Amino acid sequence: MRGYIFSFLLIAFATFSATAIEIVYPSSQYYWVYGSSQYVMWTSNSTDPSSFNIYLRNNDLPQLAVGSGLALANSVATSLQKTNITLSDNYGKDTGFFIYFSHPSNASMIYTTSELFSIKPSGTAPSVYTPPSTPTPTPEASPTKSAAGTSSTYKSLA
Ligand SMILES: *[C@@H]1O[C@H](CO)[C@@H](O)[C@H](O)[C@H]1NC(C)=O
Ligand SMILES: *[C@@H]1O[C@H](CO)[C@@H](O)[C@H](O)[C@H]1NC(C)=O
Ligand SMILES: *[C@@H]1O[C@H](CO)[C@@H](O)[C@H](O)[C@H]1NC(C)=O
Repeated sequence: MRGYIFSFLLIAFATFSATAIEIVYPSSQYYWVYGSSQYVMWTSNSTDPSSFNIYLRNNDLPQLAVGSGLALANSVATSLQKTNITLSDNYGKDTGFFIYFSHPSNASMIYTTSELFSIKPSGTAPSVYTPPSTPTPTPEASPTKSAAGTSSTYKSLA
């Protein structure tokens, strides 16, 4: 049930992506912590757009459910594969967040969305990233992306 709701939320927002970019941190496994510098990590390939903006959304928080959400970073170079974000506000809520990457000048052109993730209280020990142990691809490598990639238009936020 939880998995179904999760998938539905992502599809309802936007899952189409013409890119190979995948956000690996934060995720359902890797949370953020309020008030300190937090990782954003992603994978990409050479055909991907060279830069993107990062936005934060939470469909349960009115201030993060309107427009494009909260802008976290502009024109991040895709080749970095990793950057750091510090949230200046505390939303008093720890679940239901996701970030997405968009075209640098059009937040409606969404390249990829993260899984839903948590933001834990200030002082919580950061989640420790464990890189995948083997580069061998498997048919089940991307279960959350199975509905993506069939459309030829970007889904708007509106
Ligand atoms: C990069 O990813 C795109 C989208 O998944 C794919 O079509 C393309 O073949 C990939 N290119 C390389 C060089 O891996
Ligand atoms: C980025 O965030 C991680 C995780 O909290 C932290 O260990 C690291 O020091 C931060 N790096 C920078 C440059 O702020
Ligand atoms: C931004 O992207 C959306 C979705 O592709 C498109 O409908 C819209 O016209 C674009 N806006 C601009 C200013 O290019």
